[in-house]
Formats: sequence, structure tokens, C-alpha cells
Amino acid sequence: MDFKTLVVAPEGASKSGLAAVAADALVLIIVGNKAPEGLGEGLGALLAQAVKEGDFSFKPAQVLMTYRVQDVQAARVLMVGGGDGSPKAWRKAVAAAVSAVKGSGCKQMALAMVGQTEMGPEYAELLVTTAEDTVYLYRATKPSAAAAPALRAVILLCSKAQQAALNGGLQRGQALAAGIELARECANRPGNHCTPSHLASQARKLGKAQGFKVQVLDRKDCEKLGMGSFLAVAQGSDEPLKFIVMQWQGAAKTVAPVVLVGKGITFDTGGISIKPAGEMDEMKFDMGGAASVLGTLCAVTQLKAKVNLVGIIPACENMPSGRAVKPGDVVTSMSGQTIEVLNTDAEGRLILCDALTYAERFKPAVVVDIATLTGACVIALGHHRSGLFTADDSLATELLAAGEATLDPAWRMPLDDEYDEALKSNFADMGNVGGRAGGAITAAMFLKRFAGKMNWAHLDIAGTAWKSGATKGATGRPVALLSAFVLARAG
Ligand code: BES
Ligand code: MN
Ligand code: ZN
Repeated sequence: MDFKTLVVAPEGASKSGLAAVAADALVLIIVGNKAPEGLGEGLGALLAQAVKEGDFSFKPAQVLMTYRVQDVQAARVLMVGGGDGSPKAWRKAVAAAVSAVKGSGCKQMALAMVGQTEMGPEYAELLVTTAEDTVYLYRATKPSAAAAPALRAVILLCSKAQQAALNGGLQRGQALAAGIELARECANRPGNHCTPSHLASQARKLGKAQGFKVQVLDRKDCEKLGMGSFLAVAQGSDEPLKFIVMQWQGAAKTVAPVVLVGKGITFDTGGISIKPAGEMDEMKFDMGGAASVLGTLCAVTQLKAKVNLVGIIPACENMPSGRAVKPGDVVTSMSGQTIEVLNTDAEGRLILCDALTYAERFKPAVVVDIATLTGACVIALGHHRSGLFTADDSLATELLAAGEATLDPAWRMPLDDEYDEALKSNFADMGNVGGRAGGAITAAMFLKRFAGKMNWAHLDIAGTAWKSGATKGATGRPVALLSAFVLARAG
């Protein structure tokens, strides 16, 4: 889709104002709960009539679609409830407007916020990500899915003073939307399509297109590096493992990079500690962390951000087989620490720990790992906020702020030393599980043991990376949060 801004004369100056905008649909997102001043005669009369007849009542995201309004150029006029005018309400209204025209012949829509004049670049950014999100359709293994909507172009109507900032927002939004779409595409693909090799080829393709370096290590390379923990998870599968390293250099070589590490389990059966059959299909999404790393690299490099960024993806399947790692097996991680594998279904931490040790070679300014790590995090936070774990207060502030700014929110969770006791083992330096109590926290405590002296944070996205039920599918989260975080570091 194409996005641009267009300056319209102040409301009411009908000749060059809203009524004169040429588009298939004119969308008015109405902030507040009464008719705004100066809509102009035709539009003002329409709104007054709709309210009087009880067809419009300023409810957030309420949509009234009308045709051939007197003196209005656009064929369709959509009145949409803009709630309190906050970014959240704006996102809801944009989604409602795009959904309403999605199935119609409308090719371009022009959109204005009325009743509120403040509109920063974040509104433009949200316009793009929300519109693209709403029209996204998974087709990779379902070519029969409904045809793509006719909507090609979205025009954001604004004042001269706003235009430059909004153009910047649109550009950022387009990069973000591309990253989010890539993440959703990867994660939605079933496990027999999206294999570790598929993730590696996606990374290579992206690197070629965007101009960054991609290295893919195979089993032998990982053996040489001593990644006994990652190898133990991968050994039960016939699908070859891949350890993917992506490096974007947008700043001077001497600048320490941001390193993102994404869990890339392309299917999680649980291994020998096998999962129950119900909803096991959803474990194809267990590479949502990896997908978000790919998506973030896509967004950040598209904007040519002046930052050094490394993406690391340990990718494999977690399968039961005659060669699979068994409960009670002890493995030696790349760090040298030994791990008793008490539950083969706690595999995410086993692949991430070696990836964190590998990350040390980049002398990172900061490392963030992203993983669909625990069912316990879903119980703790549900599906709205990702779990954030870090011992560093200022890093927590940065990540939380990036989440708030992009409406991709996280919530900080504790990491007190007391939680570490649950990981004690009689047969190794630690066990890989700590019991049911505080399961998301003990998982994070396990990772903390491998973060060493690095400035590290962990995002548990088990509840936010995908949706279950009728709208089952990947969300593309937390690409927006991560991209905003990295871009803020780029200055
Ligand atoms: N991939 C799962 C976590 C998960 C579960 C994500 C449900 C989304 C929904 C992870 O590998 C896992 O199986 N974790 C176990 C850990 C347990 C054995 C300590 C879990 O959460 O049950
Ligand atoms: Mn598991
Ligand atoms: Zn898993």
C-alpha cells in the first residue's frame, strides 16, 4: 500500500478543505463526543442528521458509511468514532475504517482526524502499521484465501505545519509494517514449511536485499564451539539445525552493537517430555522470537539506522526420537556450565543459553533475548503485555518506553536472587526447570546465569506472539517494541 500526506485548508474552507478531497473514501475520525466545529456545510449537516436519527453516537471505533454527500468530492464518507484521540483510540478507529472498506471497491482513502488538532508522527506511524495489519492475509499455504483488498493508497490529511513530521512517521511506519509482516509470514508458516533451513534462507535473502552480513552455522560448527545444550535439543530431530547470525553495520565499527537473540524452535513437541495433543499445532509459533528478530532487522535496516545491530537465531526442532535427549541427561553448555535436563519441554532456555554465550564475542552494548518461553508467562500476564526481565533499571525503562510508544507493551517482572534456588541440581550446575511456582521467573533466572556481565534483558512473548481461536495467527509482536528500542539507540 502507498501512504502520503496531503495538506488540506483549515476546516470549513470548503473549496480546498475536506469536502474537496478527491478519493474513493473520505474518512473522518471524530475525536470527542460531540460534533466538531466547522466541518463545512455538507459534512456538518450529514453528521447532525446521523446523530439525530440515532445512527452515530461518537462511540469509539463506531463506523457510519454514507454515499454521495452533498458538495463532497469523495464517493464515500466514513464517520468513525475517534474516542479520546489518544494513539490507542486512533489505532482502533483506523482499524475499523480499513475493515469497513476492505471488502469494497475503494482504492484510495483519505483520512483526517477532526475535533483534535494535535497529531504527532506516532499517529502517522500507527496509521501505516494498523492499515497494513488489517489488510494482511495469510496465503502461503492457502492460495484460495480471499483476494487481496482493492485498497492501494491511504492519504493522511493534515495541516502544513504537521506535514514534515507526519511524513517521517509514515516512513517509519512503512519500515515497521514490513518488519511486522515478515515476522507474521514466517511464524504463520507451518512447521513443515518453516524449518530451521527456511529461517536461514529468509535471513540470507533479507541480508542480500538490505545489505547486511549473514552467517549460518551448521551442526559441525556448533560442535566445534561446544554448544552442548543447543545440540542436545536438536539431536532428536532429522531436520538439520541452523545457527543464524546477522550483522548490520550502520555506525562506526568501534560502536558496541545491540544484540538480539531470538528463540527459533520451529516446532516444539516437548520432546520426550511430550506435550498433550490439544493445541499442539500452535507450537509451530515457537519461533516467534526468531521471527521478531528477522522483522526488526528488516525494519531497522530499511531505515538505514545509524546503529550496529546483531541478530542471533538458534533454530531447531524439539522432537522425541531414539536419539532425543532424555530427562536426567546432563549436558555441557558452551559456557562450560553443566545442565541437568529435567524436562525436555523446557528447551527454549537450552538453546538460548548457548546463543547468549555466543553473543559475548560481539562485546554488546546490550543483549535482548526474545522467546515464546513459558506457559507460566501467559498465566501471569495474559495476551496483552509481554514479560520483561532485566536487572538493569535504565534498560527496563528504555524497553518499557519503546513498548508504550508503539502500543506493543511489556511489563517488568522480578529477578531476585531468591528465585535462583529453584534451579539447584544434585547432578549438574543447575537443572533446566524450577517447578511450577514462578515458572516464567525461574526460566529467566536460568538465562541470567548465561548473560554473565553483559547488559541483558529477556522478553517472554509466549502470550503476545500469536493469537489462538478463530483469529489464530501470528501477531508480529514485539517487532514494533524492538524496532523502537533500537531506533532510539540510533538517535
Ligand atoms: N514453547 C513453550 C512455552 C509455551 C507454552 C508458549 C504455551 C506458549 C504457550 C516452552 O518450550 C515450554 O514448553 N515451556 C514449558 C516449561 C516447563 C516444562 C518448565 C511450559 O511452559 O510448560
Ligand atoms: Mn517446550
Ligand atoms: Zn518451546
